[in-house]
Amino acid sequence: MQPDTKICSCSIIGTGSYVPARVLTNDDLSKFVDTSDEWITTRTGIKERHIAADDEATSDMATKAALKALEAAGVKAEEIDLIIVATVTPDMFFPSTACLVQKKIGAMNAVCFDISAACSGFLYALQTARHYINSGTRGTALVIGAEKLSSLINWKDRNTCVLFGDAAGAVVVRRAEPGDTSAPGRVLSTVMGSDGNLADLLKVPGGGSACPITAENAESRPNTIHMEGRETFKHAVTRMCQAAEQALKQAGLETKDISLVIPHQANARIISAIADRLGVPEEKTYMNLQKYGNTSAATIPVALDEAHRSGRLQRGDVVLLVAFGGGFTWASTVMIW
Ligand SMILES: CC(C)(COP(=O)(O)OP(=O)(O)OC[C@H]1O[C@@H](n2cnc3c(N)ncnc32)[C@H](O)[C@@H]1OP(=O)(O)O)[C@@H](O)C(=O)NCCC(=O)NCCS
Repeated sequence: MQPDTKICSCSIIGTGSYVPARVLTNDDLSKFVDTSDEWITTRTGIKERHIAADDEATSDMATKAALKALEAAGVKAEEIDLIIVATVTPDMFFPSTACLVQKKIGAMNAVCFDISAACSGFLYALQTARHYINSGTRGTALVIGAEKLSSLINWKDRNTCVLFGDAAGAVVVRRAEPGDTSAPGRVLSTVMGSDGNLADLLKVPGGGSACPITAENAESRPNTIHMEGRETFKHAVTRMCQAAEQALKQAGLETKDISLVIPHQANARIISAIADRLGVPEEKTYMNLQKYGNTSAATIPVALDEAHRSGRLQRGDVVLLVAFGGGFTWASTVMIW
């Protein structure tokens, strides 16, 4: 894993999130698939998830999260000159979901594109925005993780349908001058990695150019999530621990300095294993997957917004973000809140 070169800081000046109104509990699921609240709770920690309305697309959820982040930052849409949306559930192949958000919020001075890195997408997008901002080519970015994973679920597959949900989270990012310790949400370090050799362990095989949906294959639902759960679990723990340790080292910090770890919310057992290996006590580990399930690129920005708004995060806290997802991809970011 190649740590990214240390670059100037950027600052998160506002956060926002949105979850759709409809709640699907474990008991609701057990009415139409062979599962139980007991199995899902003990194996994953998930109790319920939110499911978008039929006419609610990823860009709609992203827009709601973005507007809250802009309001929190006190920034007008016209001031945004970069929008990056991390998603594996874009509204459509093109235009990008970022362009659709641009239109909906009226951010007409922005350059807009999407990033596809599955559950690591938000941290990939944040690091991309950081590079743009620190190179001086862009000044104020909107970075969004948004997913309508319910659109990729085979509701007959109990191995996967119990795990995922829909949500969006957003942050507004600005340059922080080197040495400006008063700037909030300063990113200190980020490491990222990928391993395409393991692409088959977690994927949506159909619906793209390799396997378009046809009348013949539609029945087998190739455009839904396929996952080797146990293998994914093992790689997730290993890679997230390595990434977190490297990001801490790059920031010149140690585990004892961490105020809060916000890990990707896939499985409570994965989160416990990471906390254990890193030596971080449970009370310094953020978990909200019981309410939302795994919302892929949205988990970290939603958790960040919740932790901030609930007062769990205080100015000056050292926050470690860490994610893992299909690809495989992984990333970790250390920041001072
Ligand atoms: C998916 C996951 C929860 C499954 O837990 P697990 O302990 O590995 O369970 P297994 O897949 O080994 O399945 C154990 C048994 O439970 C069954 N099972 C699977 N899903 C079930 C469900 N929803 N309800 C009831 N039983 C279920 C399996 O069929 C299997 O039965 P068998 O022993 O008779 O064959 C777990 O592997 C996981 O979280 N993996 C990582 C997921 C992840 O992080 N994905 C996203 C990364 S971004």
